Amino acid sequence: MFFVPLFLSNLKTKKIARKIEYIRTTDSTNETIYKMFQNNTIKANNALITDNQTAGKGRRGNTWFSSNGKSLTFSFIIKDDNDLLIKKIPLISGIAIIEAIKKMTNIECQLKWPNDILYNSKKLGGVLIEKKEGHFIVGIGLNVNEASFERSIESKTCSIFSIINHSIQREALLAYIFNNFEALLNQELIEIIKKWESLCNHINTFVKFHNFQNMIEAKFIGLNEKGEARIEIGNNEKIFNSGIIEL
Ligand code: BTN
Repeated sequence: MFFVPLFLSNLKTKKIARKIEYIRTTDSTNETIYKMFQNNTIKANNALITDNQTAGKGRRGNTWFSSNGKSLTFSFIIKDDNDLLIKKIPLISGIAIIEAIKKMTNIECQLKWPNDILYNSKKLGGVLIEKKEGHFIVGIGLNVNEASFERSIESKTCSIFSIINHSIQREALLAYIFNNFEALLNQELIEIIKKWESLCNHINTFVKFHNFQNMIEAKFIGLNEKGEARIEIGNNEKIFNSGIIEL
């Protein structure tokens, strides 16, 4: 059970997530919030959270697993009314989560480009951003109070519980994420890029970079002024705005 009044008592935003819908079960919060947006039951800046997501979507057509009542599984809508948002949102989503986890638990997580949340190189959370009808649908899945994971993912996945050995209040953590997200939205892109790079787990290291059908081993050297990935291949620098990094 997610207790909305407790969430609202920690929320300090002016606009984002002031209205949040909680539903016990749904297939995918990204899909459901979009349907609710289409039939006018949810508007820009509103959020939707569930305890039990049955068909979670990950990036690049992957499936996202979340545990009933243990994780944070939510989506929210941002109107695309500013050219910088497309560059800022992918970066600030990850930073907002990492700063919220730090505030609540003192754990220092890291980012894998563009916005995977890692701890000790294991995945703690992920972000799926979809653009529909002039709006961004930002979907976040974060492993919070899970004590164990399915065999198939346990070697590369972790939760906050698995790091600190006790449960934490999901309502406060979610409010801190939104508080940070809104504050970061108002920062300059250059400041956001610096912050992102300081949290990156693989800066100046060799990574496997998957872009469509191709895989290259190359050095990730940071972000350019637009927030795109700078990859050094031999003596040449290439810029990518999509792809998957394997560590
Ligand atoms: C990834 O790392 O591949 C992104 C995972 C995003 C999962 C979240 S959970 C809430 C929202 N609803 C979905 O169906 N997916 C996102």
